[in-house]
Amino acid sequence: MFQSNTYQKRRQQLIADVEDGIILLMGNDESPMNYTDNTYHYRQDSNFLYFIGIDQAHLNAIIDTRTGKTTLFGNDISVEYIVWMGPQPSMRELADRSGIEEVSPYNVVTNVLAKAQKEGTPIHILPPYRAANKIKLSQWLQTPIQDLQKWVSEKLIKAVIKQASIKSAEEIAEMEKAVNISRKMHIAAMRQAKVGMKEAELAGLVEGIAVSGGGHLAYSVILTVNGQTLHNHYHGNTLTSGRLVLGDFGAETAMHYAGDITRTFPVDRTFTSKQKDIYQIVLDAEEGVIQNLRPGITYLDMHLQAATTITDGLKALGIMKGSTDDAVQAGAHAMFFPHGLGHMIGLGVHDMEDLGEDYVGYGPNHQRSTQFGLKSLRLAKTLEAGFVITVEPGIYFIPELIAKWKANNQFTDFINYDKLESYLDFGGIRIEDDVLITDHGSRVLGERIPKTIKEVEAARSGDL
Ligand code: GLY
Ligand code: MN
Ligand code: MN
Repeated sequence: MFQSNTYQKRRQQLIADVEDGIILLMGNDESPMNYTDNTYHYRQDSNFLYFIGIDQAHLNAIIDTRTGKTTLFGNDISVEYIVWMGPQPSMRELADRSGIEEVSPYNVVTNVLAKAQKEGTPIHILPPYRAANKIKLSQWLQTPIQDLQKWVSEKLIKAVIKQASIKSAEEIAEMEKAVNISRKMHIAAMRQAKVGMKEAELAGLVEGIAVSGGGHLAYSVILTVNGQTLHNHYHGNTLTSGRLVLGDFGAETAMHYAGDITRTFPVDRTFTSKQKDIYQIVLDAEEGVIQNLRPGITYLDMHLQAATTITDGLKALGIMKGSTDDAVQAGAHAMFFPHGLGHMIGLGVHDMEDLGEDYVGYGPNHQRSTQFGLKSLRLAKTLEAGFVITVEPGIYFIPELIAKWKANNQFTDFINYDKLESYLDFGGIRIEDDVLITDHGSRVLGERIPKTIKEVEAARSGDL
């Protein structure tokens, strides 16, 4: 974790922003996989990590805005536990690492919340997303699970987002580490892929590199010859000549700062000319957006810029036609680019989305669209210096979507359906980088990851 004063300052700012009552930050518990003691890989709650920093199960914290003090709730462990798990720091030692004033046994949190409720002290909680924490909150606050929402504090949500959206220098250094581990994963996949291999062999390779970086995967690996399926976690296909491999995977560091990188490369050593044409459009969209990133512009405009580049590129290939502006406004390009341009990234791959996607990505001045494609844009609001975001345009040929829109004669002014017949087995291409918004522009985090056609082909040949 960072030095204790990082967490103390964050909590002080939170107290100033929330102003009244008590703030409950729930840690995550271990989560059983198939029996109690066989647990999933442990992941602490990101908000708990941000304000408390202690990466350990079975803890809660209450920040009291009236006294300015924080209490850490958790139990010192018995020697019996040490026999199985080895020596562990005491609660007091853990609290000191975070500059926390008070420690208290875990169950006392129930009394503190009951007292606050009785006295009418505002209790601020964040939206719970784990079943175990929902059950606990339901008991502590004596509220049915389906009514817990009434305790969720919009003021607290907004205060967390305001603070955590702006990354500090020490956070950016962690994120560079995450991207650099992710870079190793991608270069390894590009070098090792061979005709005849199973996707799973490469998925295992890249997962191992994430773990050897000291942390873990930031999210489940997407590594597939069926890149047209956006979040495809199946790894049972064989790499065959003529196909593309879409790899969307990244590491999180030991401190849980995430990398989220996508590259697409040919199963063969080189791209076909048909693949090159589509790849170059996606690359132009990605680099064109990165060039224009700066504080003060909206990410919605950047998304529409990428959509415009994609539409122009597909028009040049005869796949789309008509007025680019009209096509983008109508959403015809979403046949090929059905997702959003990107999202915030930080302590977690979709940073802060547990707090509510629209709070993080839209804010009061932007309304989420209901149009197919645009409705999947997670980040639309005005960018600020200190944001770290992903830029991830793509072009996909989804046979089921093509068949449906064709049968409905949808967007026949903008799409040449005849031309699409020869793209039904193409797959998909996405290119994704993690980018810091700086005072006057932006900076792609980490060392360069092969991205141009020449660089990717060089990596495929082991020359890079
Ligand atoms: N890796 C998931 C995403 O790019 O959003
Ligand atoms: Mn991704
Ligand atoms: Mn992403």
